[in-house]
Amino acid sequence: MANFLKVAPSTDPCKDKDDLLVYVKRLNNIADYVHCDVMHENFVGHTTINERDVKDIYLHTLLPLDVHLMVNEPLKLVEKYIKAGAKFVTVHFEAFKNKKDLIKCLKKINSLGALAGLAIKPNTEVGEILEFLANVELVLVMSVEPGKSGQLFKESTYSKIKKLKQIRESYGARFKIEVDGGIVPEISKKLSIYGADIVVSGSYVFNAIDKQQAIEELK
Ligand code: DX5
Ligand code: ZN
Repeated sequence: MANFLKVAPSTDPCKDKDDLLVYVKRLNNIADYVHCDVMHENFVGHTTINERDVKDIYLHTLLPLDVHLMVNEPLKLVEKYIKAGAKFVTVHFEAFKNKKDLIKCLKKINSLGALAGLAIKPNTEVGEILEFLANVELVLVMSVEPGKSGQLFKESTYSKIKKLKQIRESYGARFKIEVDGGIVPEISKKLSIYGADIVVSGSYVFNAIDKQQAIEELK
């Protein structure tokens, strides 16, 4: 049976800070999380919001913040984002030079009171992160290359979601499965059947005139 999908609209499509705060306010009561896309030029070639913006978002919403850190050396930054109000802090597998630092980072996120997420880019396989799954509350599967909203969903994502669901069941694990990039209602329906718990939506919700309806369609 399909899960009850949660929807996390992302901050990325909204480039103006004041508009972003208005957008975030509009999401209260209709979305499940606010997905904060923190990008740094050292990881994706350009920089978006920082911890001060995340703090402002926190002050404009009742929704939990799902912070997606597309940065190198996240170990140095996670504390700032937890202080800014993040509930989930998700770091990229590809952003670490060694496994020790990655484990250290996931434990640090938990020790500071937030939930730890691990993200993988489209070219990273689920098999590469198996050893970290005991230390995470969330796995974020990128269905586009990180960097910008409005890209086309990669079909190779479906098998990753199925695999993560199987792993979760066979180990009795509890991590949530989140998918990010290019999601429209037909895709979110399939993702939910395969085992996703949360879908991120950039352009689909942002461009909709009726945001509530768009979120319901995604569910
Ligand atoms: C991409 C970001 C996404 C993006 C999704 O790097 O991580 O969260 O905002 O936007 P859409 O849904 O338009 O692909
Ligand atoms: Zn994201």
